[in-house]
Amino acid sequence: MKTKVPFFDLTAQFKSIEEEIKSALDELFKTQQFILGSQVQALEEKIALYCRTRYAIGVASGSDALLLSLMALGIGTGDEVLLSPFTFFATAGSVSRLGAIPVFVDIDSETYNINPTKIEEKITSRTKAIIPVHLFGQCADMNPLFQIAKAKKLFVIEDAAQALGAEYKPTAGPEGRRAGQIGDLGCFSFYPTKNLGAFGDAGMVVSDHPDFAEKVRLLRAHGSQPKYFHKWIGINSRLDTMQAAILLVKFKHLETWTQERQKKAERYRLLFKDLLSTVKGLTLPTIQYQNRHIFHQYVIRVPERDRLKKFLAEEGIGTDIYYPVPLHLQECYSFLKYHRGDLPNSEKASEEVLALPIYPELTENEQTVVADRIKAFYKKLGSKGSRGQGVK
Ligand SMILES: Cc1ncc(COP(=O)(O)O)c(C=O)c1O
Repeated sequence: MKTKVPFFDLTAQFKSIEEEIKSALDELFKTQQFILGSQVQALEEKIALYCRTRYAIGVASGSDALLLSLMALGIGTGDEVLLSPFTFFATAGSVSRLGAIPVFVDIDSETYNINPTKIEEKITSRTKAIIPVHLFGQCADMNPLFQIAKAKKLFVIEDAAQALGAEYKPTAGPEGRRAGQIGDLGCFSFYPTKNLGAFGDAGMVVSDHPDFAEKVRLLRAHGSQPKYFHKWIGINSRLDTMQAAILLVKFKHLETWTQERQKKAERYRLLFKDLLSTVKGLTLPTIQYQNRHIFHQYVIRVPERDRLKKFLAEEGIGTDIYYPVPLHLQECYSFLKYHRGDLPNSEKASEEVLALPIYPELTENEQTVVADRIKAFYKKLGSKGSRGQGVK
């Protein structure tokens, strides 16, 4: 029987921490304190320390982390916010929810992150902020982006939903800066599939600015201070105490899990090395500068992506596409009047990217099976004489 490899599987991880999780939940059940409380505060302290920021505020999801950060900066109707269209919808959706306008900037084809050289041409008198997304677990190129933000007095909100523990390190020298630590505010998601995943929705905002942090803290609980006296119009978006209890257990393993992901990424690189010289247009993930990439996803790129995905599915290998439609071409944004061809790097990436299974518990054998089936696909393609369609 052929070995099947799921795209993602949390069951082995759960087994390894089952008893710890159950006893953490038992403790909580005894107290019956389900809103905020000591678990949320403890997690906030751990995440702040980990991200090397002064403050961390637990919220209900990564999407709300973005929304609350924008609210804290006073971004609203008619304001323009620059961001990449090659991201999960929440990055732009949070901007639109506030009546502000997402302005899409094309990506760098190698890192899939916002291309800083394309930012300046999109700035107008209405531009208020930039949201760099650290896609797949690698930081966007923050130094050139910051130079522009500083010169034009724009806020920077990092969408670090996929990048907890990633580091931006453009030069050799001293240690890099952590995702979330670099901008005015940083946003994280603990969606179950993230490197640190809850058993449901959860998120976090980090910041070094006392005023922004305090405002997010108030806004996540309807802006009240003290209770029933409302200074701001906020929302209900607290990090669930049960999720915090679970995340505190999982957090202890995060560094080990990240190192495992990095090892899998390196192993894929070695397994695919010989394909690079025979398969036309195959690209493996690149690590920019001396960055610390945490490999939330391992994304390869091939011109015949859809055929490869179908072949792998038939062979029992799970893959996924992040993201099949860049945001500027989404139906809900047709009113913004973008056209195909406007942001060519993002559009091409959406046709070619394919995420392969990567998670700490993925075995060496499973990785070998993934690589062998991809090699089998190209062998078949080559023997059919499909020259110019992927095989050199
Ligand atoms: C880049 C990015 N931004 C924002 C989010 C939103 O996070 P959440 O699903 O926790 O709302 C996600 C995660 O799904 C994401 O990957």
